[in-house]
Amino acid sequence: MSFNIAIDGPAGAGKSTVARKAAKELGFIYVDTGAMYRTIALYMLREHVNIEDEEELARALDRISVSLRYRDGIQHMFLNGEDVSSQIRTPEVSAKASLTSAKAAVRAKLINLQKDLAARENVLMDGRDIGTCILPDAQLKIFLTASVDERARRRYLELKEKGEDCDLASIREEIALRDYRDSHRESAPLKQAGDAVLLDTSDMDADEAVRRVVELARERMRVS
Ligand code: DC
Repeated sequence: MSFNIAIDGPAGAGKSTVARKAAKELGFIYVDTGAMYRTIALYMLREHVNIEDEEELARALDRISVSLRYRDGIQHMFLNGEDVSSQIRTPEVSAKASLTSAKAAVRAKLINLQKDLAARENVLMDGRDIGTCILPDAQLKIFLTASVDERARRRYLELKEKGEDCDLASIREEIALRDYRDSHRESAPLKQAGDAVLLDTSDMDADEAVRRVVELARERMRVS
């Protein structure tokens, strides 16, 4: 049987960095489920699909095939056979993914892909509903979070480093809005699973968070 680790938490908490490094250390496959929602959102943007129209959304979903492949241990996303791994990282796609991922039909399309991966391999999967919906029997669940101010500060520094012109107050506002949307939607809202370990990284650097995740995983692997 495979060993599954679920890491959930809000945007900008450092989940993907921590999850990727911890997976590498543990020899697990890292599955970034946000990238799957982003891939669908990219299609909706490109094709100008009105996602509020259920029939139009359902027709669009029928035309999409989402798959993933690993190259040198890095997850690449494919949309109808095209590698869209870099196109899905724009702010437009982030905003659209927050809206499209709230749709039950969109979530239904990705559930089997996520569950099948976890059934076959030892995975460390990150997202919003992994511990609560996708892998309710995961051997380890972690809810990784940080305060809104700290997440905004990290994002601000990241963008500044890339030379982008940005403003801390609007980044903070955007993060707070995404949190609200992700945790108030009807379909699989972001929430901590009852049996998840809470890891608040507000005063922790990424390496410390990775160490903690790896420690927790090794403890659980010993007892299971
Ligand atoms: O983690 P991220 O920013 O790449 O996620 C993109 C969007 O997808 C975000 O708005 C939350 C949503 N998402 C989700 O609803 N469920 C998941 N398991 C992963 C991401």
